[in-house]
Amino acid sequence: MLGIGPICALAGALVAADSAPPRRLLVFTVSAGFEHDVVRRPAEPAAGVAPEEAGLSLVERALLELGREAHFEAVPTRDPSEFDREKLARYDAVLFFTTGELPLSPEQRAALLDGVARGKGFVGVHPATDTFYAWPEYGALVGAYFDGHPWHEKVRVRVEDRTHPATRYLDATFDLVDEIYQFRAPYDRSRLHVLLSLDPTAVDLARPGVHRTDKDFALAWTRQEGQGRVFYTALGHRPEVWSDPRFRAHLRGGIEWALRMDREPVRLAPEDEAYRTFARENRGDPARGYELFRRESGPMCIRCHAVLGEGAAVGPDLSRLGREHTREQILEQVLAPSAEIEDGYRATIFELRDGTLFTGRIQSETKERISIWGVDGKTREIAPGDVSGRRESPVSLMPEGLARTLTPAEFADLAAWLETLKGS
Ligand code: HEC
Repeated sequence: MLGIGPICALAGALVAADSAPPRRLLVFTVSAGFEHDVVRRPAEPAAGVAPEEAGLSLVERALLELGREAHFEAVPTRDPSEFDREKLARYDAVLFFTTGELPLSPEQRAALLDGVARGKGFVGVHPATDTFYAWPEYGALVGAYFDGHPWHEKVRVRVEDRTHPATRYLDATFDLVDEIYQFRAPYDRSRLHVLLSLDPTAVDLARPGVHRTDKDFALAWTRQEGQGRVFYTALGHRPEVWSDPRFRAHLRGGIEWALRMDREPVRLAPEDEAYRTFARENRGDPARGYELFRRESGPMCIRCHAVLGEGAAVGPDLSRLGREHTREQILEQVLAPSAEIEDGYRATIFELRDGTLFTGRIQSETKERISIWGVDGKTREIAPGDVSGRRESPVSLMPEGLARTLTPAEFADLAAWLETLKGS
């Protein structure tokens, strides 16, 4: 019989990793200059928002949500005293969505620079380059100063490095409507690792306010400051950008990198890699994908997942999947279900008194019986008295290799449909 030992050891390691305190990100959104709508805190608590978040701005709430998804703790504050040396020591990285000359004392500024030099992360978003013009060390930290926004329209963004965590889930180019910044010194491409840039062939370069003649309009980069990691993205002006799955994946990856929450790129089995490659090159037909999702043969997604009220609750409801994730993330979720297991949906391995093992997700549990969803999506019941041990499973209840029950073209159709799920 397969021994439970190695599985338990692995599960134990996983639990230990998960129970380590999450990394902490200080989220600073003070506007000493222009105040963007997305960081305006509502005068009246926003409707339909959890009470503890109702007084926060859209940016602050979006970062709390990203933190829940990625397991870091975002701490929104507008209190400059958080930059006191002892208080700053409690954070692993600092995020700025700020403008103007911020009210930080010389000691607090020194604490920030020292902290980064010794290994803290720094994340700048959109107007973080429109901040602290009178403090050149800050300009050097973030990598550039803002020099106007010649464009506010749909532009084409080029991904210059597709292997970085902040860009891994993006297409090679993508179109986006946002306010587009131009940068001046200390901007210097040779001293930054540019991740995103504007495609200059698709905008009007003769427009007033375009100062650069070299056509170099970087939109996101990283740099190293001493031991610390700096990530900057110029995107994020418009509210809808904050709920765009591409921006979310980009920002999440950049924050994780700055926090040193390094994740290896997910490696797929060669057969599954072929499905991913095909689905990258072929968009697929969403209508056919919907039929495959519901089919009572093959991968049988509907046995475990609900979409818009139809289906089961063994796995998460997928109604908003395409709002929260890019196509590239969705391909990975389906092809490598165990790479990142959704909170609250972990499976449990039960060891029964007769020596057998049973893996499933607990549906309900009373003193008399435990109801468990199995890997086939069906419910089984066991008596608590029959159980001699239980462990959290290191793998998802969603089986590996489901795509292999489909043709590559069918898999692309399924992905095309999942991508359309925007929650309405
Ligand atoms: C046996 C039940 C089962 C089947 C069958 C199944 N899934 Fe899942 N799925 C789960 C569970 C449980 C999770 C949550 C754990 C995890 O993240 O792996 C999940 C997670 C997911 C996620 C990630 C959701 C998120 O919000 O992070 C996606 C996407 C997904 N499944 C799509 C599919 C598709 C498409 C199919 C059919 C090809 C399918 N699943 C078949 C049980 C199942």
